[in-house]
Amino acid sequence: MTIRILPVIETSPLTLPSELGFGRYFTDRMFTQRYAATTGWHDAVIGPYQPISLDPAAQVLHNGQMIFEGTKAYRRADGGVNLFRPDRNAARFNRSAQRMGMPEVPPELHIRAIETLVKLEARWVPGAPNTALYIRPTMIATEKDLAVRAPREFLHFIIASPVAPYFAGGFAPVAVYVPHDYVRAVRGGTGEAKTPGNYAGSIKATEEALALGYQQVLWLDAIERRYVDEVGAMNIAFVYDGTHLCTPALSGAILHGVTRESILVLARDLQLTVSEDRIDFLEVLADIERGRITEIFGMGTGAVIAPVGRLGYQGRDIAINDGEPGPVARRLFDELTGIQYGRLPDRHGWIRSVA
Ligand SMILES: Cc1ncc(COP(=O)(O)O)c(C=O)c1O
Repeated sequence: MTIRILPVIETSPLTLPSELGFGRYFTDRMFTQRYAATTGWHDAVIGPYQPISLDPAAQVLHNGQMIFEGTKAYRRADGGVNLFRPDRNAARFNRSAQRMGMPEVPPELHIRAIETLVKLEARWVPGAPNTALYIRPTMIATEKDLAVRAPREFLHFIIASPVAPYFAGGFAPVAVYVPHDYVRAVRGGTGEAKTPGNYAGSIKATEEALALGYQQVLWLDAIERRYVDEVGAMNIAFVYDGTHLCTPALSGAILHGVTRESILVLARDLQLTVSEDRIDFLEVLADIERGRITEIFGMGTGAVIAPVGRLGYQGRDIAINDGEPGPVARRLFDELTGIQYGRLPDRHGWIRSVA
């Protein structure tokens, strides 16, 4: 399918704010295409960034049938622009679509839409250290119908936002709270899908954590409330004795993170031993006390690697590595961002140069 390119009045002159934040500013253009059960995907177009008009009875507004993705375009020192593993994001988008009873988007078309949008908006890719153009593919059910059943009409759109790292402090340790009243996702539920309900349900717990002086929530499994799932909107890793990296196995309730997948490869490259396992939070506490766990960090596109400085659990406040980022997190951060920004060789074939 060809993607039609419409004329757009561009922001001129373009001066990006020094404080970008995360998802506050958007480029001049967006990609859209529509789906109907009778015709499949059609009307792929890149046109002006603008509000979407929806019928008040559109299914997304009632059944929450929506999925999204997040990937970034990175400015290289030579002025070019890199995408990082867009094929993995396109595959996860379709995995989410399957789980939510929505139509898949041909990966080739999805990636071409991202590449074309980023090429047209290349001047919006910021150049300051650790900034990027965050790309947000989204699909919503637009059919006018309150019935809870598979809709027949959808809108797929892609928007882009120049961003700073997700946490304002960059590679600074975050404080993480472990709630006992809330869970995020359960095996068989929608935790593996990137769908808004998972995030809407996490907001109250995160607000309570913020009020207690923490920035993120560590989610325990929903059944036994004992095994570690994720941290905020990131996968989580534990470093044992400075040499072994362990992350929760993909249980059905955990998002298949692209950063997680990449960090596991890079950790092996750095001669760390790596395992994916069920991780008992009570054992984690004991291993921190014994000094066996030397580092904990979150992994995700937004923050890249977020070292965990302290954990709040049942009235206790437990420091990890004296509240400082550890050497393993630092090395992995440098490796991954080195590849993303083109400072290091792309030895795993993860980069697509688009400009
Ligand atoms: C719940 C959740 N877990 C983990 C991640 C990390 O995934 P990725 O590394 O693909 O960004 C994200 C972000 O997309 C997320 O929303």
